[in-house]
Amino acid sequence: MDNLNIKKVGVVGCGLMGSGIAEVVAAAGYDVVVLEADSELLDKGNKLIDGSLAMSVRRGKMTEADITASKGRIKYTLNMADFRDCDLVIEAVTENMELKKKIFNELDQACKDGAILATNTSCLSIIDIASVTGRMDRVLGLHFFNPVPAMKLLEIVRTIATGEATLETAKAFGQSIGKTVVIAPDIPGFIVNRLLMPFFLEAIRLVESGQASKEDIDRAVMLGLNHPMGPLKLADFVGLDTACFISEAMYKEMSDTRFAPPVLLKKMVAARRYGRKTKRGFYDYG
Ligand SMILES: NC(=O)c1ccc[n+]([C@@H]2O[C@H](COP(=O)([O-])OP(=O)(O)OC[C@H]3O[C@@H](n4cnc5c(N)ncnc54)[C@H](O)[C@@H]3O)[C@@H](O)[C@H]2O)c1
Repeated sequence: MDNLNIKKVGVVGCGLMGSGIAEVVAAAGYDVVVLEADSELLDKGNKLIDGSLAMSVRRGKMTEADITASKGRIKYTLNMADFRDCDLVIEAVTENMELKKKIFNELDQACKDGAILATNTSCLSIIDIASVTGRMDRVLGLHFFNPVPAMKLLEIVRTIATGEATLETAKAFGQSIGKTVVIAPDIPGFIVNRLLMPFFLEAIRLVESGQASKEDIDRAVMLGLNHPMGPLKLADFVGLDTACFISEAMYKEMSDTRFAPPVLLKKMVAARRYGRKTKRGFYDYG
C-alpha cells in the first residue's frame, strides 16, 4: 500500500493511547518522535512502550530483533521543534479542548507546511481544534481504540474542511499500520461512540431503576447479541470516568437526553468507582 510519502510521524502525549500509537507506528517501519510534557512523563511513556513491546515477544507476536528495530525507530523529546521534519503528527494528550487548541496552535508553527496534523480525541469537535491552525485542510481525526496494538479499527474523522488528499493519505497510512479504516463524520461520538454511548447509558439506567441486575443485562447481551462482553463490564473496562465525560460532552453538544449521564453514573464517578482502573466499578476487581 502506497503510504503517500509519510516517513516520519510525531506523537504528542505518551499516556495510554499515545504509547500504543507510537508502538504500532514504529512497528510498521516509520520513524517516530514522541513528545511529552516533562522528563518524568517521557520516561514513564518510554517504559509503557518498552513493556508493551516485551509483552508482544512473550506472546510470540514479535521477535527480539523486531523489538530492537522498533525501539531504534523511536526518538523521545521534550522539544516540539523536533517535529519539524515530521510528515504527520498525531496528538493524544488529555481530553481537554483548551489544551488541544494550544497544542495545535504550537504544532502549526513547529511543523513543515505540508505536514498533516491529527487528533485522537474521543468526542471533541475536530473542526474547532483545526480552527486554530492555518491549515484546516490538513487536519483530521485519527481515532484509535484501546489497546491500540490489539484493536483493528481506526476511525478517520473528516471535518467539513479536511482536504481530499489529506483523507487519502490518512487512509493509506491507516492501512499501512495494519488497521481497518472507516470514514466517520465530525459529529459528537463519530460512529462508534455515537452508537455505544446510548447503549451504555440505557444499561446503566436499567440497573439504576432496579428492573434488571447487572449480571443479567451483561449475560443477555453476550448470549442474545453475541457480544464478547456485556455493556456494564465494557463500561468498567473503558472507565466510568471516561464514559461520564464523553456522555456529558455529547449531551452538552446535542442537548439530547439520550446522551445525558444517569445519576448513578455520576455518583459512581464521585465515589471514584471508575471500573477496572480503580479496581471497583459495576464489578469488583480486587
Ligand atoms: N483511553 C481510551 O480508551 C481512549 C480511546 C480513544 C481515544 N482516547 C483519547 O486519546 C487521548 C489521550 O487519552 P489517554 O487515555 O491516552 O490519556 P492519558 O492521560 O493516559 O495520556 C495523556 C498524556 O498526555 C500528556 N500530556 C498532557 N499535556 C501535554 C503536553 N502539553 N505536551 C505533551 N504531552 C502532554 C500527559 O502527560 C499524558 O501522558 C484523549 O483525547 C482521549 O479522549 C482515549
